[in-house]
Amino acid sequence: MCKGIICGLTAKRTVLRIVLVFGLLIPILVMSARYFEPQHGAGIGSLETARGQSSFSAHTVLPSTTRHKPGCAPAPLELFSNPDTSFRENLGLFVEEKVCRTGIKAKIVEIGVWRGDFAEILLQRYHQSIGEYVMIEPAEKLTGSRDPELNRRLKDFPNKFPNTNFTLIDEISTEAVKRFPDEYFDWVYCDGLHTYKGVQDDVSSFWSKVKVGGLFSGHDFSMSRAKARSDPWNTIAPWSGVRGGTEKAGFPGSYKAVVQHARKQGIQVFYTLEGRYGQGMWQLSDTGGYFRNNPSWFMFKHSDNYTSPIPKHNYIYKWDDSRVFRKFVFGTT
Ligand SMILES: C[S@@+](CC[C@H](N)C(=O)[O-])C[C@H]1O[C@@H](n2cnc3c(N)ncnc32)[C@H](O)[C@@H]1O
Repeated sequence: MCKGIICGLTAKRTVLRIVLVFGLLIPILVMSARYFEPQHGAGIGSLETARGQSSFSAHTVLPSTTRHKPGCAPAPLELFSNPDTSFRENLGLFVEEKVCRTGIKAKIVEIGVWRGDFAEILLQRYHQSIGEYVMIEPAEKLTGSRDPELNRRLKDFPNKFPNTNFTLIDEISTEAVKRFPDEYFDWVYCDGLHTYKGVQDDVSSFWSKVKVGGLFSGHDFSMSRAKARSDPWNTIAPWSGVRGGTEKAGFPGSYKAVVQHARKQGIQVFYTLEGRYGQGMWQLSDTGGYFRNNPSWFMFKHSDNYTSPIPKHNYIYKWDDSRVFRKFVFGTT
């Protein structure tokens, strides 16, 4: 209840408050929401489905059985939202942490090895944590020859890293996968056939081969700005960056196959930020001299009884390679 001038003042104050809330606070909130939204080329992009979250820990997505134990340095997920440290070699830190916690050396498979560049970087950095390194590279079977650099490394690796077992499988990934029991690997890295079907085959056939708490990842998860705009699926894909002054096209098939897989599993997809720094791409490495050209995606495998905060979606889609960017239809089963 109010009377006369007192009532007038109270009404004025109320109006003032409303003006303040709508005129100032709401625009501020909207602006901060936009700031935290993943932008193409912005450093915060690796939190792909966690819009609005500026800080995230690997422990948010790892099952409790795989969390940090005292004495083992935790691998901070934040590394991957900082452009200076967001590169694929650092994914090995998750494996290193797991090996420290379990006391069991890691089994890693790289699908598509080419010259063995990434294998060499990982072995240089993490060989003490790697018990087995499987390389799937069908070049010889498919073309009759393998890159000479890989042949050299295949001879060199066992001498340089005597405590790691090496296997080279000269078969395509969908054949090679049959050799392994479920939950065999601590880390699967997909970098073979980069078409939509190729990546889809790899993520669907190798998913069961990853241990619970293991790392599942792969290369080339990015999009040019123009292509990102042309298809709603691609709008929050990481930016491909430029090379020689021209924007790189990216990998819509790889992006979609990975995102679909993650949605189906109800899993968060993260990604690294390589590839968008022009000339500086050469310098963004603490292993020195390696050209880093595109982002890698990664996710963690959680146990069946872990309740993911991310709803599961089985997207219906039509895929037509002649109109790759138009035929992807949103919907859920
Ligand atoms: C981009 S390169 C791999 C680069 C390597 N991972 C690195 O980062 O140093 C892709 C490789 O995948 C291989 N590849 C192509 N089709 C494949 C398939 N179906 N299964 C496995 N590997 C395949 C190619 O022979 C090629 O050497």
